Amino acid sequence: MNKRCLLGILVCLAVSPVYAEPVPPAPQHQVKEKTAFIDHLLKQMTLDEKIGQLNLVTVGPEYPKEAIMADIRAGKVGGMFNTVTKPDIRRMQDQVQHSRLKIPLFYAYDVVHGQRTIFPISLGLAASWDMDAVALSGRISAIETAADGLNMTFSPMVDITRDARWGRVSEGFGEDTYLTSRLADVLVNAYQGDDPSAPDRIMANVKHYATYGAAEGGRDYNTVDMSLPKMFQDYLPPYKAAIDAGAGGVMVSLNAVNAMPATSNSWLLSDILRKQWNFKGVTVSDHGAIGGLVKHGVAENNRQAAAMALKAGVDMDMADNMYGLYLKGLLKDGLISQRDIDRAVRDVLDVKWDMGLFADAYRHLGPASTDPADTNAESRLHRKEAREVARTAMVLLKNQAQTLPLAKSGTIAVIGPLAKSQRDIMGSWSAAGVSAQTVTVWQGMQNVAGDKATLLYARGANVTDDQAIVDYLNSYDKAVVNDPRPAQEMIDEAVRVAKKADVVVAVVGESQGMAHEASSRSDITIPESQRDLLKALKATGKPLVLVLMNGRPLALPWENDNADAILETWFSGTEGGNAVADVLFGDYNPSGKLPMTFPRAVGQVPLYYNVLNTGRPFNPNKPDKYTSRYFDITNGPLYPFGYGLSYTRFSVSDITLSSASLTPKGNITASVTVKNTGDRAGATVVQLYLQDVTASLARPVKELKNFKKIMLQPGEQQVVTFPIDETALRFFNNQLNWVSEPGRFNVFIGLDSQDVKKQSFLLTE
Ligand code: NOJ
Repeated sequence: MNKRCLLGILVCLAVSPVYAEPVPPAPQHQVKEKTAFIDHLLKQMTLDEKIGQLNLVTVGPEYPKEAIMADIRAGKVGGMFNTVTKPDIRRMQDQVQHSRLKIPLFYAYDVVHGQRTIFPISLGLAASWDMDAVALSGRISAIETAADGLNMTFSPMVDITRDARWGRVSEGFGEDTYLTSRLADVLVNAYQGDDPSAPDRIMANVKHYATYGAAEGGRDYNTVDMSLPKMFQDYLPPYKAAIDAGAGGVMVSLNAVNAMPATSNSWLLSDILRKQWNFKGVTVSDHGAIGGLVKHGVAENNRQAAAMALKAGVDMDMADNMYGLYLKGLLKDGLISQRDIDRAVRDVLDVKWDMGLFADAYRHLGPASTDPADTNAESRLHRKEAREVARTAMVLLKNQAQTLPLAKSGTIAVIGPLAKSQRDIMGSWSAAGVSAQTVTVWQGMQNVAGDKATLLYARGANVTDDQAIVDYLNSYDKAVVNDPRPAQEMIDEAVRVAKKADVVVAVVGESQGMAHEASSRSDITIPESQRDLLKALKATGKPLVLVLMNGRPLALPWENDNADAILETWFSGTEGGNAVADVLFGDYNPSGKLPMTFPRAVGQVPLYYNVLNTGRPFNPNKPDKYTSRYFDITNGPLYPFGYGLSYTRFSVSDITLSSASLTPKGNITASVTVKNTGDRAGATVVQLYLQDVTASLARPVKELKNFKKIMLQPGEQQVVTFPIDETALRFFNNQLNWVSEPGRFNVFIGLDSQDVKKQSFLLTE
């Protein structure tokens, strides 16, 4: 996508190639000045000082603050992460003044979906399909992060995720390459603008390069094995989109890619990233990943691992000090060269220049007099924006007999272990968010309708009663606090409350830690304790509304059959409860669409929409045994990619193509008329998919190529037009050339990936 597209993202309809135009290079005189400065600095640096620049550290029990401060004074640290308040950061940066060359450190943090104000998890942001809303979340994140004195975020996370078992699907934007690439572009621009050193900007460090989201079996850190056309077509473009948008950093993934760990993978880090993509920024290993090369079994010992990582192209060593321990000796023994070290150091110094740290080591920090009196002050939050963005992320999965929106009257039973949880609603990687500042669903419902309706509450169940799981989730801190009452006692209480109400709202799903790093699940249903509760609530015969809080697609066949309405709210952040209530009571008409397919059962996973057809495709209209299918379950997803309902209805006309053929240099348009046929205003996402019917490699049954979110008043209709040109038809062939091949293409347009209108055209020679 080009920059002009970004400016008016909702009005720019050109099919944007995933391979985007790079950000224009800095003016020549600036580059010269920077190069001259860094050349000069490099000449003055000792070997120890150079190696120190490659050290990216965090405070921990084995490396306390005082030890880090001493190392900074000795020139042995290049940057820090996880130190997040101005006074703490300043204390560290002050040490630089006592070092020989006074090279400032940079400070990074995992600001993934907000810093002080927490926005919906990334999967939820993707569900908005609203580039303005996502850009707003990114801008606020940058403003708050810079205001805390930080310089870099380890974000966006753009790993394509097609396996709902993987806990980290919560951190990414889902299964689709095009949607993820657009979001990568939007967020990098929102963080960095044209200048990551500006007072309210931060540098983006895109992660996890590469293919981390394809870990086998959805088990975290597991190996990835993938064909090269698939890797180039589906998995690599989002990283490239972030780099083309100007991301200053890349975090290397923890997994092996086709048997070679990313951390020692010079093909990924040098041939593709640097040579093909022209990346000029800094690469950082993930936490402890250099030492991990020994466990991967590609290095005999840590010393060899350090040599491999450096030579492959990992500039900075995150948190395991392998470079600090071994590079000097490796150089002496001729196993690495001075050029290897200098190249990495130059990358680090380059990004420090770009962050403005050489012009002002206290950039973003300022003098102590400017520190906030209270880091967690309410006045530092952006609640209005958080509520606005969170509303866009909600996906209405079911709404039988218009159960929703709820009337702001009568008696409503609000039940479930997540209804009053301030912590869980923040979701994974909630940066510096403070749970005490979050609005729960219970509180949000009180705020929106508490003066008109009677709200009753019962917890009803724990998120899970499986003690082994609770213990696991509490391994590092007390994340889950269970109600000690027997499960049946809690259910009985909930049923008593439900019986007094006109409608039951059950707030159920996963706890924050269940969809996180190191939180892979082999079972992606709602845990049994909550299922038992739902069954009991169903038995009351009261209308049952499920408010889901979760960080991955769940398998919900029972819920789909038994609930009257289901609202997917993800983990929606600081203002999540208010946003949920806005949707439940109809003050906001939901318009989110799923960025990941929801399966019927975990056994179908990985399940995603843009599959290759087989030679024996399953045909639901004519089911046959010898076709590609499972025999013990209805085939296909429960809710497809791109799906989401509204409180109104929309119709989509047949597709009009401006021409039945497209020349390689030409353009055609595909148009539909979308009409709001219901009785309230609403937004929906019009989605364009293309299919290359016959090609030199099997091509997906459809691929998202563009979308437009539109708002329509009741009865209003709009013609939505998507230009299509030859670049939208390209793919990576067996020689990994990005080509289009003449022939027939299908065009699909719809409001989800399954329910689509179809047309076709020819690409001519
Ligand atoms: C490990 C995670 O994999 C990565 O995403 C994160 O940025 C680093 N730790 C730093 O916190």
